[in-house]
Amino acid sequence: AEALRVGIAGLGTVGASVARVLVEKAAELTRQCGREIIVTAVSARDATRDRGVDLSSAKWFADPVELARSADIDVFVELIGGEEGPARASVTAALEAGRHVVTANKALLARHGVELAEIAEGKGILLNYEAAVAGGIPVIKTMREAMAGNTVSRVFGILNGTCNYILTRMEAEGLSFEDCLKDAQRLGYAEADPTFDIEGNDTAHKLSILTSLAFGNRIAAGDIYLEGISNITQADIRAASELGYRIKLLGVALRTESGIEQRVHPTMVPTASVIAQVHGVTNAVAIETDILGELLLSGPGAGGNATASAVVGDIADIAKSRPGFQHGPVFGRPAKELQPYRKAR
Ligand code: HSE
Repeated sequence: AEALRVGIAGLGTVGASVARVLVEKAAELTRQCGREIIVTAVSARDATRDRGVDLSSAKWFADPVELARSADIDVFVELIGGEEGPARASVTAALEAGRHVVTANKALLARHGVELAEIAEGKGILLNYEAAVAGGIPVIKTMREAMAGNTVSRVFGILNGTCNYILTRMEAEGLSFEDCLKDAQRLGYAEADPTFDIEGNDTAHKLSILTSLAFGNRIAAGDIYLEGISNITQADIRAASELGYRIKLLGVALRTESGIEQRVHPTMVPTASVIAQVHGVTNAVAIETDILGELLLSGPGAGGNATASAVVGDIADIAKSRPGFQHGPVFGRPAKELQPYRKAR
């Protein structure tokens, strides 16, 4: 089979890791996919920075929208971030040009996912977003593909690595909130604007995607009760600990008699519970269903390599997909048929 040509827009922490994995693991990927995957084009603000990978044979584009439409690629990988601007413009352009898209952009999907899914489904191409929720944990494929027939009653979890890293170190080492946040930024876990992490917006974006997969509704990120961790103090953590609890930032979505409830807030979880053992940058997603019962997935939730692992998995899916085959719906059921979100009251 012909090589799959990949264009990467955005070469920050995640983009550079994806490029490195694609280059360093080229032989392994070829063996697994039955065809070569090559980075033929890239777009980033700074073309000169050393990213630990040789991209000299790739074509450089100043404008990601131009890259998205370029005839040099089969797959457009969006790792720019942000819900509007170049991320939205380039993903839309790529889908309209009939290019498969892989994105890690939860903010974009939370806001425009349904509209983008409609374009992809109309064109019969793939819009893959495994890395958008819980970093390296394969929760999208699990919910969308492996759990058919299950009716979900509740999905919840630790969906932001930065917050869990901060809370873990505050408790274990008695460090201040600010020092922990600085370390999370230095390690490449935090968003470009860390307010999105600590105020819970990032968790809300991810939760809204999980809610849609769980309950088949249109994404409604604006309808989530939101409270972050920026007001959590050492005194709160000590008080919780004395009562036998840990504080975790949870995203929760559940089906109730009167509709679907979505919320994000710091939660006291019993120290002996499984979710309380999820430390540092690790994320965890719990899914409760009628057939399967309770499922708990946990693993690396942020950072270059963990996120790259999910992005590369999505690219490999495309490499293995057969040209001319119509692909399944982006959110498990066709975007046009997603139900309006019915808010619990
Ligand atoms: N800033 C995010 C986090 C990155 O800390 O979880 C992964 O989406």
